[in-house]
Amino acid sequence: MTHEYVYDQSFAEERARLAGMESLWDPGTQALLAELGVGPDWKCLEVGAGGGSMVRWMADRGATVLAVDIDTRFVEPLASERIEVRQIDIRTNELPQAEFDVVHARLVLEHLPERRQILDRLAATLRPGGWMVIEDYDWSCFGFEGDEPGLDRVTEAIMAFMQRAGFEPRYGRQVVADMADAGLVDVRGEGRARLISSRDPGFEFFRLSFESLRGAVVEAGLLTAEEADAASQRFGADIRLVTPLLMAGLGRKASV
Ligand SMILES: C[S@@+](CC[C@H](N)C(=O)[O-])C[C@H]1O[C@@H](n2cnc3c(N)ncnc32)[C@H](O)[C@@H]1O
Repeated sequence: MTHEYVYDQSFAEERARLAGMESLWDPGTQALLAELGVGPDWKCLEVGAGGGSMVRWMADRGATVLAVDIDTRFVEPLASERIEVRQIDIRTNELPQAEFDVVHARLVLEHLPERRQILDRLAATLRPGGWMVIEDYDWSCFGFEGDEPGLDRVTEAIMAFMQRAGFEPRYGRQVVADMADAGLVDVRGEGRARLISSRDPGFEFFRLSFESLRGAVVEAGLLTAEEADAASQRFGADIRLVTPLLMAGLGRKASV
């Protein structure tokens, strides 16, 4: 059975949901990629480019970027001399071979059950010595500050719903092993998590992820409409949460 990406691409606030994600994680991702040396003359492949903040950052450093996504509406306006945008389903569509200095995918593979095969496909896009950086969540440390039984219930229901669609909530702790299995060398993992309040721009990622999925989760019988309404109100209050751990798996293609 083929599973589709669980988030509704027609959700009116999808760009704002992606912006929340970017504000939480861009600084750390940029630090990792800067450390690898991303800059002029680098050829980068950004997979599941989403809102395109990392694509813009790579190009601003002088790199050329191929940005691919199944839904390219937010990255198309970025197309320029240094940025090429292609609508690509990473599970099946053809990709350039042995070309890139770095391939990066953040919060993409955890959604796709074909993730292990996708790693083989991404490894094939790298030139010898090129870097792979795959970032995905491990949700086991996620939670709200204090006693929030209503929000805990919603978290459980959403996780169950997403898992039915092929989501792997702990892929962050598996990604390094999968990268080694895909033949990458010098593999290592580096994780980061944050404790944020509802005033933090990154909180919008959690609130809007809930708003995007709530209708479908209620329809699936995993949550009542009353529980969803109560959670929606609570998300508007002054609360704090610990984010999932975002694990970055790093490795490189062996030089020949
Ligand atoms: C959670 S968002 C992450 C966006 C971006 N990587 C970031 O971290 O800001 C996941 C992205 O993967 C894309 N995506 C989902 N399934 C895909 C597929 N099969 N092929 C290519 N892109 C896909 C979605 O359209 C979405 O833009």
